[in-house]
Amino acid sequence: MDLFEYQARDLFAKHDVPVLAGEVIDTPEAARAATERLGGKSVVKAQVKVGGRGKAGGVKLAATPDEAVARATDILGMDIKGHTVHKVMIAETAPEILEEYYVSFLLDRANRTFLSIASVEGGMEIEEVAATRPEAVAKIAIDAIDGVDQAKAQEIVAAAKFPAEVADKVAGVLITLWDTFIKSDALLVEVNPLAKVASGDVIALDGKVSLDDNAEFRHDWDELHDKAAANPLEAAAKEKNLNYVKLDGEVGIIGNGAGLVMSTLDVVAYAGEKHGNVKPANFLDIGGGASAQVMANGLEIILGDPDVKSVFVNVFGGITACDEVANGIVQALKLLEDRGENVTKPLVVRLDGNNAELGRQILTDANHPLVQRVDTMDGAADKAAELAHAAK
Ligand SMILES: Nc1ncnc2c1ncn2[C@@H]1O[C@H](COP(=O)(O)OP(=O)(O)O)[C@@H](O)[C@H]1O
Ligand SMILES: [Mg+2]
Repeated sequence: MDLFEYQARDLFAKHDVPVLAGEVIDTPEAARAATERLGGKSVVKAQVKVGGRGKAGGVKLAATPDEAVARATDILGMDIKGHTVHKVMIAETAPEILEEYYVSFLLDRANRTFLSIASVEGGMEIEEVAATRPEAVAKIAIDAIDGVDQAKAQEIVAAAKFPAEVADKVAGVLITLWDTFIKSDALLVEVNPLAKVASGDVIALDGKVSLDDNAEFRHDWDELHDKAAANPLEAAAKEKNLNYVKLDGEVGIIGNGAGLVMSTLDVVAYAGEKHGNVKPANFLDIGGGASAQVMANGLEIILGDPDVKSVFVNVFGGITACDEVANGIVQALKLLEDRGENVTKPLVVRLDGNNAELGRQILTDANHPLVQRVDTMDGAADKAAELAHAAK
C-alpha cells in the first residue's frame, strides 16, 4: 500500500525524522485557518499518490491565508498524471532552502537485501540525474540483520559525498528513517527533497512510503486505506475474502488457483482477438475447496459488474472434485435467484480434473438455461468471448 505524502509525514514524525508541520484538508476555505495556524503563510501541496507534483503545478507557495485559499482552489480537483486531487496538505513553509538531497531505503528483491539510495543532487530533477549521471547516485546494500547504525549511516553519507557540515545531521536522519522503514514493515521510504535550510538543519520536505501489505496483520493500518479510491467491486470482494482484481474487459472470469486464473486471462484475451477484441473483466481466484457459498459470492460480484457480458467459469478439480464444484455452480445460481438477483448473463463452464465426468453430468442434468458446458479451456474461452461480443 502506497501512502499519501501527509501520511508519510505523520509516520516520519512518529519516528523522529525531522519534518515540518502540516495538515490535510479537502475544501479550499479550510486552507485559511490552517495557514493562520502556521503563522500566515504556507505551502499548498496536492495529495496524490504519484510523483512530480511540483512540476505539474501541484505544489504552490502561499504568502497569505487568502493566497492559500486561492492556491487550494486551483489545486483541488486538478488532474495530475491521471490522479484527481481530492485533498491538499497545508504545510509549514521551509526556511530558505540551500540544498536539496535525496535519500531512500528499499527492498532490493534482485539482490535479496535492502538498499539505500542517496544523492546530494536531490529535488525535482532526481530522475534526470539518475538517468544521465548515475555516478551522482550512491547505492549501498544494507544487511537485514545489521541494519543502519551510526557506522553504516556514515558509510552512506561518505558514498554519496554529502558535504562535511551536514554529514552528522544526514547520518542522524538516515538512522531515524531506517527505524521508520523497519518498524513500519515498509518496502520503500523515500525523502526527496531532504532539504538543507539556512539554519544548517536538514528537514524531510517530501516523503514517499510504500508499506508491505503482507505485514498488515501486525499493524493498525485501517485509517491509512484510501477508501475513496478503492474500486467498489474490489471492496465488496475483499469483504467476502475473495481474491478479486477488476480489469477493463467484458468477460467475467472465475477459476480455482491463481495460476489457472492467470492462464485463463491469457486464453480469453487471445480468443477475444477474434471476437471484437473483448478482454477479461476481472481476475477472481476462488481457491481450492470452493463451496457453493464461495461460488455464489464470486458469481454475485462478477454478475454485479456492469461491464461483464459473459462469464467463464474455469475449474480444475483437485482436492475439491468437479462434482462438488458443479453442484456449487447449480446451487449458487439458485441461491442468487432466490435472493432476487437478476441473473441474465450467459455462463460458460469448463470442468476438468478429478471427477470431471461426474461434474459435467451434473451440469447437463441441471440444464440451466444460462449455463453452457464446453470441455476444453480454449474452446470455452472462445465461446465466452463470442457471447460477450454478441452482447456488447
Ligand atoms: N514545505 C515546503 N516548504 C518550501 N518548499 C517546499 C516545501 N515542500 C516542497 N517544497 C518545494 O517544492 C518542491 C516539490 O515538492 P515535493 O513535495 O518534493 O513534490 P514532488 O516531489 O511531487 O514534486 C520541492 O523540491 C521543494 O523545493
Ligand atoms: Mg518530492
